[in-house]
Amino acid sequence: MTAILTVTMNPSIDVSASTEKVVPVRKLRCTNVRHDPGGGGVNVARMIKRLGGDCRALYPAGGAAGHRLRHLLDEEGILSIPIQAAAETRESFTVVDQANRDQYRFLLPGAPLSEAEWQACLDRVAALVEPPRYIVASGSLPPGVPDDFFARLARVAALIDARIMLDTSGPALAAALEAGVHLVKPNLREFRDLTGLPLDREGDWERAAEALVHAGKADIVALTLGDQGALLVSRDVHLRTRAIPVEVVSAVGAGDSFLAGLVWRLSVGDGLADAFRYAVATGTAALLTPGTELARKRDTDRLYRQLMPHRTPDRNRKRI
Ligand SMILES: Nc1ncnc2c1ncn2[C@@H]1O[C@H](COP(=O)(O)OP(=O)(O)OP(=O)(O)O)[C@@H](O)[C@H]1O
Ligand SMILES: [Mg+2]
Repeated sequence: MTAILTVTMNPSIDVSASTEKVVPVRKLRCTNVRHDPGGGGVNVARMIKRLGGDCRALYPAGGAAGHRLRHLLDEEGILSIPIQAAAETRESFTVVDQANRDQYRFLLPGAPLSEAEWQACLDRVAALVEPPRYIVASGSLPPGVPDDFFARLARVAALIDARIMLDTSGPALAAALEAGVHLVKPNLREFRDLTGLPLDREGDWERAAEALVHAGKADIVALTLGDQGALLVSRDVHLRTRAIPVEVVSAVGAGDSFLAGLVWRLSVGDGLADAFRYAVATGTAALLTPGTELARKRDTDRLYRQLMPHRTPDRNRKRI
């Protein structure tokens, strides 16, 4: 049985390429063209698969791009649950300027969904014959989907005894927390927007995370802090990990990879502290690959070992 289901309401086909130099008017010949499945939950599913886990991905799919998305996910061995949608699935473009390594990221608007279509997504989750233990709800909501969509999903999750792991922003994030989730993974900017607080100091982060937990909005808050590492707060534990200093090739996808590492390790029975370390390792490993490329498992495992608490030899112990 696959314990993890990802839900991506605003998936995309990510087209990435590089060109010599980005300048206006001239035709820019591109090379290194890639087509990757994209969108928050889709990325999490791909990363879990890469780490060696299994996962189902539910998403609305429309038109030729919707078919292509399904096909690309099939190729990666990810079990798709596509929900038929009338509007064409969106595309996004990333172009790397080879002259200065700058990355230009263009996101097209999400494919709008009708009420019947987004409701069909909720109904499909509720009707799964093998309910998942974890539902990763990640990414933005496209036009037509109400802000309380993830709150509705949280209520469905409660009915089938699944745990919601949420990574979204703005009103969709706030509404979902009103319903209550198992875990929420904001970055610092999203956390500031949510709380309306400046959160300038480290102590403020911890207090604001504790407040969410005590208000019953999330059992676990995993706050990711970019080059400052991450913080995890639940009722019983407070964990803080500094960032691992690495040469950043591309910062795209660190957050999705972090969540993938965390959910996968929890799903295989790790405790929070180990899963959290693995999450930081996965997020960091995502920085080592170019463009929208996913983290490599061997980088993740190496970085994870670096974060393992060392057992210092006890010099005073008597020899027997
Ligand atoms: N510049 C960096 N140096 C070292 N580690 C980093 C850096 N950026 C991110 N990380 C690691 O990756 C984790 C997740 O990154 P981040 O906080 O940037 O997520 P995010 O803002 O959600 O990312 P995304 O842009 O993918 O949504 C961090 O907790 C940290 O461990
Ligand atoms: Mg993020």
